[in-house]
Amino acid sequence: MNLFSRKENQSEAGDFAYLQPNDCYIDVACQSLRPQCVIDAEVDYYQHYNACGGRVKHRWGEQVDKKVDQTRAQLLKYLGKSAGEYEVAFTLNTTYGINMVLHALPVGEYKRIVTSDIEHNSVLLPTLSVAQCNNLDRIVLSRNDDGSVVYDFTQLENAIVVLNSISNIDGRQCLNINDLARDVHARGGILCVDGAQAMVSQRATLSRLDFDCLFGSSHKMYGPSLGFVIIKKSLLKKCTPALIGGGMVSDVLKDSYTLINDDNQLYSRLEPGLQNWAGIMGFSKALEWLSADDRYTPALARAQEVYEGVKQLPGVIMTNATPSSTFAWYSKSADAHEIALMYSKSDIMVRSGYFCCHYYLQHVKNLPPLVRMSFGAHNTKEDVAKILDATATILTVLR
Ligand SMILES: Cc1ncc(COP(=O)(O)O)c(C=O)c1O
Repeated sequence: MNLFSRKENQSEAGDFAYLQPNDCYIDVACQSLRPQCVIDAEVDYYQHYNACGGRVKHRWGEQVDKKVDQTRAQLLKYLGKSAGEYEVAFTLNTTYGINMVLHALPVGEYKRIVTSDIEHNSVLLPTLSVAQCNNLDRIVLSRNDDGSVVYDFTQLENAIVVLNSISNIDGRQCLNINDLARDVHARGGILCVDGAQAMVSQRATLSRLDFDCLFGSSHKMYGPSLGFVIIKKSLLKKCTPALIGGGMVSDVLKDSYTLINDDNQLYSRLEPGLQNWAGIMGFSKALEWLSADDRYTPALARAQEVYEGVKQLPGVIMTNATPSSTFAWYSKSADAHEIALMYSKSDIMVRSGYFCCHYYLQHVKNLPPLVRMSFGAHNTKEDVAKILDATATILTVLR
């Protein structure tokens, strides 16, 4: 475990040495900061082998192809999944991946689409649009306060089930996700997991989970802005791409085309056009960096300290019963956006609002806008003291 402060961090590891001493960033659930080595890997690509992948025969192009293949393999290895069973495709972000896959699935094979009420809009809205476009039944399941999903078996019959394994509101986990996978599969359905919040903190759970498809964002894993889909090859083969273009076809006639059908290039079905090569190089470095040490436990420890301190302040209501590296709260007497603006004056960057979970927070729970704090590997014990100090002052001023 690596609990050094930023000062020590700067001299020993230098991962976040570029941060200004006053800056206290706690919006990691949106995007994590990038360690210097990830930034360097992107710059290295631009300066030394700035080529397109997948179609170029020169030396730079070959280097890109090698690195991109390596990154796909690294991501599978990170989750202990086999390249025989799963394919990795890169996308713009989690939202894009979800939309692309849901609109490419052989929807006729399924009876309904099922999601849960606590989802990010990037799940809630595509499930709605796919249901509407295909005249498919849609069920929105409830999630308990501990994050587990409430269902009965009949709801899973031939269902496309799409839900998060960790919520971006307050880090609550879908505790019964393994049971859900078993029950979905037993009834002829598929399980598509929004892993945007889970790839760092829930790596072991996802490794054990028999998902059909998993969506994630490198920018929530200390990598560049980039998304990915990890999908069973057997499922991807049945998909008809909704977005189509360069890099996906083996032949094109005036009025028809043939998709690449090579088992080793199935990812092409989800990768229309030129990709974010620099981002993929940075992501490879981020995966290496994540695998080299425990990046999560120190962040959780910082969050726990702040959670316990904020919880005790008068008028504060936490949305989660137990701390996690992401948590949210509101004050009975002060507006969350006003609180966030006051934090900003002390160089503390927090989020306020509904975090793209309007339906659940506003309409199911009837809550006011929240303050969300999410911690990462860069946070120090000085940050903890600064946040606790500022919170007490802000809530006193706004009372
Ligand atoms: C749980 C969850 N799902 C999906 C998303 C969407 O991710 P992106 O903006 O990278 O598409 C987010 C973003 O915060 C998220 O937290």
